[in-house]
Amino acid sequence: MIKKPPGIEDIFPDRIDRWNHIVNTAKETFNTYNYREIIIPIMEYTEVFARGLGDDTDIVSKEMFSFEDRGGRNLTLRPEGTASVVRAYVENGEFNRLALNKFFYSGPMFRAERPQRGRLRQFNQFGAELFGSDDPYYDYEVIAMMDTIAQKAGIEDYELVLNSIGCSRCRTEYVRELRSYYEDHEDQLCADCRKRLPKNTLRLLDCKSEQCQPIKMKAPKLPDYLDEDCRSHHEEVKKYLDKRNISYREDPHLVRGLDYYIKTTFEFTTTRLGGQNAFAAGGRYDQLVEHFEGKATPAVGFAAGIERMFLLTEDQDMEKKSINAYIVHSGGDTLTVAFNMAEELRSKGLSVDFDPTGKGFKSQFKKADREGARFALVIGEDELANGTVTVKNLETGEQETVPSGDAGGKIS
Ligand code: HAM
Repeated sequence: MIKKPPGIEDIFPDRIDRWNHIVNTAKETFNTYNYREIIIPIMEYTEVFARGLGDDTDIVSKEMFSFEDRGGRNLTLRPEGTASVVRAYVENGEFNRLALNKFFYSGPMFRAERPQRGRLRQFNQFGAELFGSDDPYYDYEVIAMMDTIAQKAGIEDYELVLNSIGCSRCRTEYVRELRSYYEDHEDQLCADCRKRLPKNTLRLLDCKSEQCQPIKMKAPKLPDYLDEDCRSHHEEVKKYLDKRNISYREDPHLVRGLDYYIKTTFEFTTTRLGGQNAFAAGGRYDQLVEHFEGKATPAVGFAAGIERMFLLTEDQDMEKKSINAYIVHSGGDTLTVAFNMAEELRSKGLSVDFDPTGKGFKSQFKKADREGARFALVIGEDELANGTVTVKNLETGEQETVPSGDAGGKIS
């Protein structure tokens, strides 16, 4: 038997209703905030992510599915959407069209992480990206959209964790202080952190190892180093959240694992996913468009993990999928009538099924039940002779025989 590679999931119809509920909730919410859908490629030149996310990030340094194509070009299956949207935005000169651009996307992403519950190698995200304004209202807007989606999807016990990591100016001073603090505690750090310390100091705040937690707790806090502009931006974002009664917890150590963020960073977290506590995350990235050689354009966005949201809504009952009718026939000429009736009813938008092999009424009724049919339309020899059909309500057991042309009205 050929199996799928690790960290990749199949999604069967019994799970698809809840899946679509999550995605449709997101799309409806994006629409209400005037975001428009963009379809970005699943693979890009590796350079898009190396440049976009940063060479030293975990994603770029060890989690990308990269390969050479037949022409010797290096391609990568997208590990996230933001860098691709920025590449598309710049390449298509979008900034010349409208001052403000609001996009959303959804689809599979790929990261070669160690698979576990809620952590996959092929997973799906939906996300939104806004280009063209550095107004703190828009930081609020992307957070508010995700909050609305989480609520509407039925996720209750989550926390919004918020921070500002300042701009490159405030961060330079902070990182200097942080490095010197960590250097003083270097012998107590885990091996990974010791390695990251000289070049990638900020990422030490991301470390999950037990050993590093007490040191992290006492580390200098980024918000204490914010300049006036970054501080007031952060205050404005919080004011908007307060106005809408969106509660949040400030975490001065929330830095996120991607290099493009400045100012606002946030995560939607839960304790119900074990090690994978964030089900959505995002922030501001005002310099990324320029970094892709576009005209300087401030931007902010977020993405959510659909599988993680799916796990968080697992206990919700979705309405069982049903069809209008299952046609039961006795073969021969009744099959021809069943076939014609099925196609006619389908053309009217009704969901109808039948079994062309028609093996006995009993087994066809069983199938009707399994498919969740609300009615059975029975065509036996009598019905064939009289041009009628027997309509049986499978919930109540009531049945009546009517002219076959009336079937549609009875089952809709
Ligand atoms: P991220 O935090 O890397 O951010 O991913 C966003 C979400 O994708 C996570 O919160 C999680 O729910 C989901 N996710 C990430 N990795 C996995 C995985 N291996 N398995 C399952 N789910 C996963 C970004 O991707 C940024 N592009 C977000 C953003 C958009 N920032 C600004 N705009």
